[in-house]
Amino acid sequence: MVINKNNRTVWKSRISKTKLSYFDKIGSSIDIDKRLYNEDISCSIAHVEMLHKQKIISFKIKNKIIFGLKKIKNEIIKKNFLFHKEDEDIHMSIERRLFEIIGEDAGFLHTARSRNDQVLTDFKIWIKNSSNEIIKLINSLLKTILKNAEKNVHTLMPGFTHLKNAQPISFSHYLLAYIEMFIRDKKRFENNFTSLLENPLGVAALTGTTFNIDRTYTTKKLNFNSSTKNSIDTVSDRDFVLDFLYASSVCSMHLSRFAEEFIIWNSDAFNLISLNDKIVTGSSIMPQKKNPDPLEFLRGQTGILYGNLFSMLTILKGLPLSYFKDLQEDKKIVFDSFDKLKQCILISNEVLNNYTVNKKRMYQLCNIGYLTSTDLADYIVRELNYPFRKAYNITANLVNYCEKNKKSFQDLRIEDIKKIEPKLNENVLNIFDLNNSVKSKKSFGGTSFDNIKKMIKIYKKEIK
Ligand code: ARG
Repeated sequence: MVINKNNRTVWKSRISKTKLSYFDKIGSSIDIDKRLYNEDISCSIAHVEMLHKQKIISFKIKNKIIFGLKKIKNEIIKKNFLFHKEDEDIHMSIERRLFEIIGEDAGFLHTARSRNDQVLTDFKIWIKNSSNEIIKLINSLLKTILKNAEKNVHTLMPGFTHLKNAQPISFSHYLLAYIEMFIRDKKRFENNFTSLLENPLGVAALTGTTFNIDRTYTTKKLNFNSSTKNSIDTVSDRDFVLDFLYASSVCSMHLSRFAEEFIIWNSDAFNLISLNDKIVTGSSIMPQKKNPDPLEFLRGQTGILYGNLFSMLTILKGLPLSYFKDLQEDKKIVFDSFDKLKQCILISNEVLNNYTVNKKRMYQLCNIGYLTSTDLADYIVRELNYPFRKAYNITANLVNYCEKNKKSFQDLRIEDIKKIEPKLNENVLNIFDLNNSVKSKKSFGGTSFDNIKKMIKIYKKEIK
């Protein structure tokens, strides 16, 4: 229920009520959408400037309204603005205050617009700005990862498949994998700009308006690229909300994979990294404990972000065109996903600045599980001109031999190897060298030190 200067609700002439109903209370979104105040005021200013340019309102009224709106903005910034539950939402709240400040002329503001196009315009601008904020945060995370990668080009560790030691890799190569993911995340947010830059203002409730408005004018003023093309679609459309929630969910999923991996590696069983005291918490009963809570926190948040995406998809499922109150939930969902994602990126950055790489342990683990087996099979193919499958079987037999005799590849002498494949000579022993193994993965995108160094140079140029 929105009350103007004369203490009359905006819809009083039609709906008679003496006090706030239960629904008025729960239907109010002011506590949530007040975050849109800045966008709302900018859009209103652009709107009245357009109305004046089109000779729909006078110069005097335009200035009066802009004066009032600027005063309101100041009041909100200085926290002198009273948000009332009765004001339903931020748009009505600002309109109510405008009446208080400039009187009946405030009533001209809502000429040729509806809250339906108003809220969409505010919200698209908010999501665009917030996406830029997320892109910036991802960028600083990328820089931190890159710093980590530069320091660890020659740090060897086992690469895992199925969480079993698979082949030796450079720790840096692993970190650069996350660079690729977060670059894609940035692009996902950027791709959304196409629809975010279509201006909804001017489609009014659902049909357009009888006034001779100039939508191109507000499009330019508010930094959109073009005006939306169908008034019914415009007020019904929340695809841009889904796009934002999806991009946020994917980014958060990447963060949760990183978090999970660091949790595992920080575990006593793996002990590949150690988290610094700054990012661990203690136990209330076990004095010795140092728990990776922040990582678990960010892994958990992903569930909530997925939930938000699914909430919005479900709200939209089967919803007829055009505007329904159901859609009002979109702000709560988007704000929540944004806040959580922001927090998660910041936490990840903190973690990546506050841990130690247990290089010795990483190297030791590379010696468990015959990690250079594939290198050996490849070598046999090249040296003896055998088909890969035959070389694979010879290598498997050698691994069986080692297991049976409790030997690692490093313990083998050429005589042992000749028992399995007599045509091999001493040169084969170099194949078990872990550094050689990594160095030899020269194919494009592989873990060789040279590839990594090249990629680091490229990323350094790309990530500004
Ligand atoms: N607070 C509303 C929302 O976000 C604004 C649009 C209201 N439109 C209406 N026809 N009731 O959905």
